[in-house]
Amino acid sequence: MQPQITLIAGARPNFMKIAPLVKWLDRRGVARRIVHTGQHYDERMSETFFRELSIPEPDVNLGVGSGSHVAQIAGVMQGLEAEFTTHRPAAVVVVGDVNSTLAATIAANKLGIPVAHVEAGLRSRDRTMPEEINRILTDSIADWLFTSEPSGNENLVQEGVAEERIHHTGNVMIDTQQSHLEAARQREPYRRWELDRCGYAVVTLHRPSNVDDREHLQSILTALETIAREIPIVFPVHPRTKARLADLGHDAATAAGRWIEIEPLGYIDMLGMVDGARLLLTDSGGLQEETTALQVPCLTLRENTERPITVTQGSNQLVGWKTEDILTAARSVLAGPDRIGQVPPNWDGRAAERIADRLIRDLGIA
Ligand code: UD1
Repeated sequence: MQPQITLIAGARPNFMKIAPLVKWLDRRGVARRIVHTGQHYDERMSETFFRELSIPEPDVNLGVGSGSHVAQIAGVMQGLEAEFTTHRPAAVVVVGDVNSTLAATIAANKLGIPVAHVEAGLRSRDRTMPEEINRILTDSIADWLFTSEPSGNENLVQEGVAEERIHHTGNVMIDTQQSHLEAARQREPYRRWELDRCGYAVVTLHRPSNVDDREHLQSILTALETIAREIPIVFPVHPRTKARLADLGHDAATAAGRWIEIEPLGYIDMLGMVDGARLLLTDSGGLQEETTALQVPCLTLRENTERPITVTQGSNQLVGWKTEDILTAARSVLAGPDRIGQVPPNWDGRAAERIADRLIRDLGIA
């Protein structure tokens, strides 16, 4: 029987990263299985992405759901032990930095199965972020470390990782963006709210450090409501944030300015909204990269980023959570050009192809 590769996906930011990997393994005729851990389970946080990105149905869904981080990680590990034992892969591919990424890496390693980490080496140097710990631990175990930007290579080398394990293959998320950009542009999703291209800002917020801390959330909200008086704000609200905004007594109906609060968007609508935006205000890791690739100005509502190339070359600025800092930066962006920065050199739509080919060569398959 031909050796098989198992890909793991658990949460929303994973789905756009596995899509091109599945495509290239299929094109090269490699047997593969897809495991959904079930960390994200709402239709809008999960199924929509599989459908729109043409990812085949997962072979199995572990259904871990929400819960404490320990419960999530333990649930994924136990589920994967059974999966890997029944359908033993030649290698496991994990992407990103969510709890499912770490859990799958440990489970595979304990069963003696090599692991490839896609989007390796990113470091915010902020150990209070659960994702930072997931990144450090995953990279310390994984056998192939596929990096998306040069800082990833530098960080791994500094941490003592052998250079032959590190491969700078580029950004798989941008592969997916390029494949769907035309469809997203044609859709012009902003027209649904009678908005024009470059005539609105998009906001996303979900980091625990911003939304679970009342002072931070209130401070960000005050800035956003002020900005909404100058430019309409479209805010697709993450489930975690929805609960926190309600706790704060925030009411979209009475918010100042033009404030458009909506459910999480699917991939293509979101891409169309980001591509058409004048400005993004976000604490997402992925959106820092997606705006950089589209040269859309991005204000990151964090003190640090694990994706420094989006600041040094791209269109991203770190502005933190304080009202005045956000307002000053937003006004300066709104007074400048609509599109800024440069696209990093190897964000060229071919990252997944390079990764698939490297795995095939090293595993001696296909
Ligand atoms: C997770 C990732 C984060 C990623 C984010 C994208 C970790 C540590 N964090 O954070 O890196 O940027 O996903 O969304 O893995 N919920 C739903 N429906 C869902 C999923 C979640 O209602 O489909 C709610 C639940 O109440 C849950 C909360 O959202 O408790 C948080 O979900 P969880 O997966 O624990 O973490 P995220 O904050 O989404």
